Parts: sequence; C-alpha cells; structure tokens
Amino acid sequence: MERIRLNDGVEIPAVGFGVFMIPNGGETYRAVLDALKAGYRHIDTAAAYMNESDVGKAVRDSGIKRDEVFITSKLWLQDYGYDAAKKGVNTSLKNLGMDYMDLYLLHQPYGDVEGAWKALEDAKKAGKIRSIGVSNMTPKIWNSFVPRFSTIPSVNQVECNPYFQQSELRKILDPQGVRLEAWYPLGHGDKGLLANETVVALAKKYGKNAGQVILRFEIQSGIIVLPKSTNPERIKGNLDIFDFELSEGEMEQMRALDKGKGTHDPEAPGVGEMLLNNYRIHE
Ligand code: A2P
Repeated sequence: MERIRLNDGVEIPAVGFGVFMIPNGGETYRAVLDALKAGYRHIDTAAAYMNESDVGKAVRDSGIKRDEVFITSKLWLQDYGYDAAKKGVNTSLKNLGMDYMDLYLLHQPYGDVEGAWKALEDAKKAGKIRSIGVSNMTPKIWNSFVPRFSTIPSVNQVECNPYFQQSELRKILDPQGVRLEAWYPLGHGDKGLLANETVVALAKKYGKNAGQVILRFEIQSGIIVLPKSTNPERIKGNLDIFDFELSEGEMEQMRALDKGKGTHDPEAPGVGEMLLNNYRIHE
C-alpha cells in the first residue's frame, strides 16, 4: 500500500476504510476486522459516527500491531471551544481504547473553530494525536480560519471525485503542503460517473473496474481516498489499484470530467446549526 508523507512528517496509507453510518455494537466491528483482513491499514471514523469503540475493539482483536494501523477520528461540533475540545479528544481516546490517534480532525468548520484547533495542537504536543487536520473547509472557510492558526493542518477532508475535483481548493492547499482527503471519492456511487465513457474505456484497457480507475486517478493526483463499499469483492478491489498507472494523457482526460460541483455545500446558510441539531452525540 502506498503511503503519503504529511507536512508534519507522519506517513498515512493512501487508501482508507471509512465507517460512516455503520452501526456500533457489532457491524462496525465486523466491517473493520474484514477490512483489516483484506489489507486496509487506515480506518477513518469520527466521534459523530458513534462507532469508535467498535473500531478500537476490531483493531485490538485483529492481532495487527497498533502502530501498523493508521486511525483517524474527528471532533464533533458539540465539543468545540478549547475546554470542550480537550475533553472531546480524551473521550475519543477512551472510546477507541487507545492511548493515541494517528490523525484527528475538526469534523466541521463552525462555531469556536479556533479554540477547538488550539486544543488539538496541545493534544498533539502531549502525544495524544500524531497529526491534526480539518474537514469540510471550502477555500473561503479555509481562508477565514487557517491564517489565524499557529499550526497549518496536515489534511483537509472534503467531498472530492472526478465530477468535483476541488481545483480551487487544491490551489490553496498544495503550496502549504496540505493533503486533500476525499470523502465520496466514487461520487457516492454516482451511476453516471461509474458509467462515464472515459472511465469505462480506461477500465477496459487496464482490466480494472470503474471504481478502481477513479481511485487510481485520485491517488495519482496526490489525494488520500476513503472509498465506501459493502461488497466484499469491491472492498478488496478498491485496494488493488497499485499495479497500473494512468498516462499523463489519460490523467488529462480524467481531469476534463470536472463539473466543479458536489452534493454538499459547507457554505450554505444554516448548515452548522442543522448538523448540530441532527447529531447530538451527548447531553
Ligand atoms: P457497493 O457498496 O455495492 O460496492 P463513495 O465511496 O463515493 O461514497 O461510493 C460508494 C458507492 O460506490 C457505493 O454505492 C458502492 O456500492 C459503490 N462502489 C464502491 N466501490 C466500487 C467500485 N470499485 N466500483 C463501482 N462501484 C463501487
């Protein structure tokens, strides 16, 4: 598995297994164990997914050494502000049953983002987190917060796929050595994308499926991908993307698919409040 060096020197496996919407108490446990068996060494969870404890248990029971698995979690909006975020970090560690996390993100960019970020910086200094980052920051949101941070985030996890390539955002992140992590890297199973003739032709040429071509394109663009699948064959197959390479001309063809728009607009009015109301993870 290819690894990427982040701007703080920490190495992250380029493909991760995401557990959004998988229930705790068994299902996440089994899914993570299966993913580790299939070769994944990077698991992406969040406090708001409410399944950190299953992730931790699966990693412990897998027999794989803790330092061979890269664990990401995220702080939820309810725990923003310095003091609450400090507690939030400890709660994630407790739920995971781990003494450190490899990467911890500010899940959403609303409320006291600066205070929460300061708590992540301090937790990093204290050895509780190896790398810190943000999520769902558009160029405008990034520019409104990050210039005030003392530490540049290592990643920004956003929606990204060939129909929404985040080119404006990448122009801001690249010079600062910040990696983009893609959620919905397959366009959330967008049938049009998976059946796109450029994608299908490349899949045929390389003997791969459409999803593998899309993920390969993203990896070759320097993006960390978190593909989702419930199908055991595809879960395994989505890791099997390191034995072929798209040519520069083919990368150009894929770049031309960009429509510049996704499903989620972090700048839409009221999004922060809506998210906070929808996900109450504690009193
Ligand atoms: P399935 O669970 O049946 O594999 P995203 O990661 O962008 O959210 O996309 C997830 C969707 O893409 C799911 O519907 C999943 O369906 C589908 N999918 C996952 N891997 C592949 C693949 N290699 N080829 C085609 N579709 C895929």
